[in-house]
Amino acid sequence: MNITIVGTGYVGLGTAIMLAYLGYRVTGLDTDLQKIERLRAGDLPIYEPGLDELLRQAQGNLTWTTSYEESIPKADIIFICVGTPALPSGQPNLTYLESAARSVARNLDGKTQIIVNKSTVPIGTADWMTRILEEHAVHYHTNRYDIVSNPEFLREGTALSDSLYPDRIVLGGRPWAVARLHELYAPLIEQSFTPPPHVPRPSGYTRPAVVNTTLTSAEMIKYAANAFLALKISYANEMAGLCECVGADIEEVTGGIGLDARIGTRFLAAGAGWGGSCFGKDTSALVSTGEEYGYDMPILRAAIDVNRRQRTLVIEKLQRHLRLLKGKRVAVLGMAFKPNTDDLRDAPAHDFIARLASLGASVVAYDPVAMPRARQEWGHLQYSEARSASAALAGADAVIIATEWDEFRLLDWDAAVLTMRTRVVIDARNLLRMPLSVAATVEQIGKDAGPAPTMAQASA
Ligand code: UDX
Repeated sequence: MNITIVGTGYVGLGTAIMLAYLGYRVTGLDTDLQKIERLRAGDLPIYEPGLDELLRQAQGNLTWTTSYEESIPKADIIFICVGTPALPSGQPNLTYLESAARSVARNLDGKTQIIVNKSTVPIGTADWMTRILEEHAVHYHTNRYDIVSNPEFLREGTALSDSLYPDRIVLGGRPWAVARLHELYAPLIEQSFTPPPHVPRPSGYTRPAVVNTTLTSAEMIKYAANAFLALKISYANEMAGLCECVGADIEEVTGGIGLDARIGTRFLAAGAGWGGSCFGKDTSALVSTGEEYGYDMPILRAAIDVNRRQRTLVIEKLQRHLRLLKGKRVAVLGMAFKPNTDDLRDAPAHDFIARLASLGASVVAYDPVAMPRARQEWGHLQYSEARSASAALAGADAVIIATEWDEFRLLDWDAAVLTMRTRVVIDARNLLRMPLSVAATVEQIGKDAGPAPTMAQASA
């Protein structure tokens, strides 16, 4: 089978390289020539652990192009993995999807081809895409072209493991088209491939469940899954606030409730709230889809509000200790929306830096991986860069831990805090485990804030 993947973002690249690893001939298509040139040179435009190694192993099966004319006619299956970023209204911007669908349609050649939607698309998009195909395909015939919705559930940072060992594969569409996708995914469904040495099969993992459903249900599954995970996080954050009021510890609480198998412990980590390209966009899109039907979604609206409030609470914690922020030097550790990625989309650190700068603080930021990307994308923010986490803390009045990179866990906090001017640590990811031997004011999320504890006291 010949595969073309349209869009070489996080999802498209991961999918292309994974399918090439499974042995398919894959063409990755992007209209961004610079990206394609980098890929041709074997250089990844994104940071994803282990992806460079898998690219090297799968290189022989991969071709990169900017040309629909060249790649679409020879493809049996065409994956559409273009971005659908949120518009200010909360609705997804479908411009890239529309233009990709048109270009694919114009180049379909009359043999049996399947177009797979992997992008998170608004519910009902498959119908809309069918109309684009009818309008623009030269050889359109419904028995020959069909659309399958195959939402992607991979997480950035663990994309390879999530793609090779998924919990489930969701396939929405007409049975004959879904059957083709079953064939394509057979090595994954049967787990018959040899795992790459650097991405071993997780212990206890057997094989994914396959969900065969309709186009619309498949589209809905993706949104409902992301919204549910976002709800869990907002729930934990709301409980964390109450823990601070009553003097309980959110980690003990979520650990305790999570032992109930109906709840589970995952996605209950309280902190700076969710960020990234999916949760904010997908929750807003669901609310706005509801609005189109006059259907209110109060639970989701509340989850979004709690997430927004969580970011302001972090700055308020800092203000409680430092009072006036004007002229204070604040270090922000971590810029990426979560560890093990350089993705800055909807990162809490962005809002922290913007708010701190607007309050007159001088911000020094550090991220192990995302700083070069921030230089390109965060030019509108006022901050300076530090060379390392400890350099960021030197002379600072306070530090906010915005992303839970392992590098920050491993930092010699005793030594680093000693170099600060005022020792205020706002641990917005509940990352600190080791009590310090030096006195410092440490605030975490959902822990008894009481009279501000010092790390030394916390250890007592
Ligand atoms: C998410 C979904 O998990 C994935 O299935 C979907 O395909 C895309 O969206 P991703 O955005 O890569 O993946 O990251 P994820 O690990 O889900 O984290 C999202 C955000 O939630 C991050 O900002 C993370 O810091 C935050 N989070 C996650 C919490 O605050 N608490 C948690 O317990 C878990």
